[in-house]
Parts: sequence; structure tokens; C-alpha cells
Amino acid sequence: MIHEFGGPAAMRVEEVPEPQPAAGEVLVDVHFAGLNPIDYKMRDGSSGMCRKMTLPSSLGREFAGQLVAAGPGVDLPGLGLEEGGWVFGIRDHSDARGCYAERLTIRADTVAPLPDDADVQDLTHWAGLALVGLTAMNALDRARLAPGETVLVHGGSGGVGQVLIPMALARGAGHVWATGRAQNADRIRQLGATAIPYDGVDWREAIDEATEGRGVDVVIDTHYFETFLPSLDHVADGGRIVALPTLADLTPARERGIEAAIPGIEPTRAALDRLARAFVDGSLPLEVSEVIPLDEVQRAHRQLEHGHTRGKLILDVRG
Ligand SMILES: NC(=O)c1ccc[n+]([C@@H]2O[C@H](COP(=O)([O-])OP(=O)(O)OC[C@H]3O[C@@H](n4cnc5c(N)ncnc54)[C@H](OP(=O)(O)O)[C@@H]3O)[C@@H](O)[C@H]2O)c1
Repeated sequence: MIHEFGGPAAMRVEEVPEPQPAAGEVLVDVHFAGLNPIDYKMRDGSSGMCRKMTLPSSLGREFAGQLVAAGPGVDLPGLGLEEGGWVFGIRDHSDARGCYAERLTIRADTVAPLPDDADVQDLTHWAGLALVGLTAMNALDRARLAPGETVLVHGGSGGVGQVLIPMALARGAGHVWATGRAQNADRIRQLGATAIPYDGVDWREAIDEATEGRGVDVVIDTHYFETFLPSLDHVADGGRIVALPTLADLTPARERGIEAAIPGIEPTRAALDRLARAFVDGSLPLEVSEVIPLDEVQRAHRQLEHGHTRGKLILDVRG
């Protein structure tokens, strides 16, 4: 819980009354919560989502666990859900309540069941699937990626990057390059992209050389700070750039006539089911780099703020 916005020390583990599911909501016994950069931006007060927060508040946007009960008006069988069933889910943008909790209540249609053939041993992965998966889907939609087009992903082994690469290839991308530190190059190659280790080579020269100066059709920039402006010189004619941070300034791209967008997260049940299928089929090889116990949540946030997360960090909230 946070009582006011601040640094990692603003978070405290507290006992609060168990929430009761309102109409249209379900009560979930949370096992793991996904950790995402937006969590620290909501903790320190810098995210636009903070306007929707009522303090004191928990943090976190996504989770996996077991459904406990339904509130009034929820047709569990109609939603393919059942009491005791394994679920994963995500809060939509109108809901700023957190997920770092042993129990939470949430809109029933932003929760999805794990498919029958899912491995419950993978619950940490399920806790980290929704936010990055929905973001990557929307980023590729906003980029209007067409089959055969070339793509540059900045941050290919990070939370969203690791999902973007296989999704772009599944949509028929002609070639995907991805930047990341040299220590993540093997992971980026494993995901199907050509790795550009930005700490060893100049990525701008590498892209120039690989595309013979033409540039790429689509840039998806999960980092933004050092990468957005120089990327504009490497977008092919008619190309598009998508920057992930919601506060990214797209003006420099638009001033140059380059179509630019920031993705959003639309947690529909159909989209969650699509992600679940892709994860079970092995076409979204999500990596969890560390599972961190709740009492080390301050360290988890410092790691998020560092900006070099590999795959996903997951919080173990079981008491
Ligand atoms: N608009 C939305 O709805 C939405 C949704 C999700 C996320 N986001 C935002 O998108 C951003 C990324 O999220 P995430 O979960 O993927 O973060 P993350 O897991 O922390 O990954 C950050 C990535 O950035 C890379 N990186 C750091 N410095 C770099 C540099 N100079 N050049 C290229 N890559 C660099 C890191 O790779 P190395 O470790 O190899 O450097 C890492 O792969 C965050 O700002 C987040 O808030 C927005």
C-alpha cells in the first residue's frame, strides 16, 4: 500500500479488510502479480493514471490466481469461469486499484480462465502475460504492420519487447531487428530477431547497413529516451513509429511527416483468450527473470526503475 506518492520506501505491507465483489465483479485469491514500469510511475505520482487513484492504494495492474466468488449479476458459467478455477487478468484503464494483494476484486470481464491444457506450474508466467501481451498487440495494430514489412524494436528482451518480436513475425514481418545490451543478444536471436547490441555497436550504422540506407517500415520503441529522436532518421518513406511510454512526445516525428502513435491497453476478454492460446501453443515464449517475494517489493521497484529488466519480474504475494 502507498499512503502518498513517493520513492520505493513509500510502499508498506499492511493488513486491510478483505474486499467484497461489487456487481459485475469477481473476488480472486491472488498468487502472483506482474510487475511493470507503470507500477513505479503510479507509486511516484508521475503517471497520468494517478489522477484516478484514491489513496491509500495498492499498486500493480495484473495477476494470476484462483477465483473465489462472484458478485451480484455475474454469470460465471456464461463467462467460462468457475469458483476455484485458475484465472489471470488485468485492470482496465478506468480502474486504478492495485493487484499487489492476497485478495482483490475486479471486473469479471477483465479476467480469463487458464485454458484446460495450461500448466498451473507456470502461474508466474500467467501473472505477467496480460499487460505486455495486450500492449504488444495494440502497438502492432497502431503501427499498421503489413506482411513483408521490416521492423526495428528497441529493447527486444524487455517485458514488451520479448512479446513484440514473435508477434511481429507471426503477423508476417519480413525482418525484425532488435536492440538490447550484448548480454541479451542470445535471447533476442532466440525470439527470432537480428540482435543489435547497442552497448557494443552503433545501432544506427547497423540499421543503415542492413537496409542499405532505406530504413525500416516500422519502429517500435519500448525505451524512448535515447532512441526515439535518432530513430526518426531510420524510418523508411511511408514508415511508422510507435513509442511506448504514455508521456512520449511524438511532435518531432509528426513535424517530419512520420506517422507516430502511443499504444493503449484494451483488456477485452477476446484479447485475453487470444493471448492465453498463444502462450499455451508456445508462440509467445514469455520469460520470467525473477520472482520476488512481497516483503522485497521495494527492491523490485528499484529494479523496475533501473530500466534494464530482462523478460518479466513477478511479485509473489502469497502470505
Ligand atoms: N502505452 C502503454 O500502454 C504501455 C504499456 C506497457 C508499457 N509501457 C511503457 O513501455 C516502456 C517499456 O515497458 P517494458 O515493460 O517493456 O519495460 P522493461 O521490461 O523495463 O524493458 C525495458 C527495455 O528497455 C531496454 N533499454 C534500456 N535502455 C535502452 C537503450 N538505450 N536502447 C535500447 N533499449 C534500451 C532494455 O534492454 P537492455 O536491458 O538490454 O538495455 C529493456 O529491454 C515503459 O516505459 C512502460 O511504462 C507503455
